[in-house]
Amino acid sequence: MNQDVIFNSHVATIPVFQPLAAQPATIAHLFTTVLWICAGIMVVVCSMVFGALIKYRHKEGAPEPKPYFGNHTVEIIWTVMPSLIVLWLVWLTIDGMGQYYPDLSKKDQADITVVGHQWWWEAHYKDSGVVVANEIHIPVNKKLYVFLDSADVIHNFWVPQLARKLDAIPGFPNAIYLEAQKHGTYLGACDEYCGVQHAWMRFLVIAQTPEDYAAWVKAQQAPAASPARLTGSAAHGAKLFHDMTCANCHAINNVPALYPQTAPDLTHLVSRQTLGGCIISNTPAELTRWLHDPQAIKPGCRMPNLKLSDDQVADLVNYLETLQ
Ligand code: CUA
Repeated sequence: MNQDVIFNSHVATIPVFQPLAAQPATIAHLFTTVLWICAGIMVVVCSMVFGALIKYRHKEGAPEPKPYFGNHTVEIIWTVMPSLIVLWLVWLTIDGMGQYYPDLSKKDQADITVVGHQWWWEAHYKDSGVVVANEIHIPVNKKLYVFLDSADVIHNFWVPQLARKLDAIPGFPNAIYLEAQKHGTYLGACDEYCGVQHAWMRFLVIAQTPEDYAAWVKAQQAPAASPARLTGSAAHGAKLFHDMTCANCHAINNVPALYPQTAPDLTHLVSRQTLGGCIISNTPAELTRWLHDPQAIKPGCRMPNLKLSDDQVADLVNYLETLQ
């Protein structure tokens, strides 16, 4: 999937109106209900205005119209009707909000903890211990408790088809339910302006059948390919990974990072579909382009241009491609 495909698939469909979980369905229902009510009010008001314009248009020689004051029937209608409509909307809103607030006192039991970073997402799975970046796998038809946190500024976690949107605020606990009633790949995005690359703080949620999900968890739990078993260019790349300070920020499970909160865990890098918060697809060619100059692809991102030679990049790509 390249940048254009992801971008176009996002704009070509309006996933807000194709909800695949109870919570976004309630939100979509609330939105369409409000829209139809407003459309109805607009039709009634416009008809009356234009009707009056036509019916009471000034005619040559006609007398001045006789003004009159007070009409109990009309006053009762215009008080009771809007009150009922407002009460209906309040009820729909309370229904939508009330059902879907997870109990924050149970945050230790969160299935997944999602941490927003400038400009990527990190997800920790409680039961399996799996840590991933920008790609959250979930089993279908399971309501997951997701705890939201941030490593720096305020971000907003939003997968339009699967959940409401909610801020990830540093130091302030927030949680949502995430659920998919159908397997598939769903685009998520940061929905709170958080700096220069806010627009490319996207992520994928991949809902799988229980069997596929279990297989994914098993693969993610497996240790990364050991550099000791590598030879040639890949072995050289593994050495470069440490010498060129990549290892300071990027954790690989058998090689912990010095600053593990800074950059995505690369233990199973190859298993992911995209790089850099969905800005490019995860192919050897794109990875090569990224390593040559991340700033040319995602200006302002935290990864500097390390000014690597073509050979160094090739060796690093050969090593990183072993992280299946
Ligand atoms: Cu993170 Cu916008």
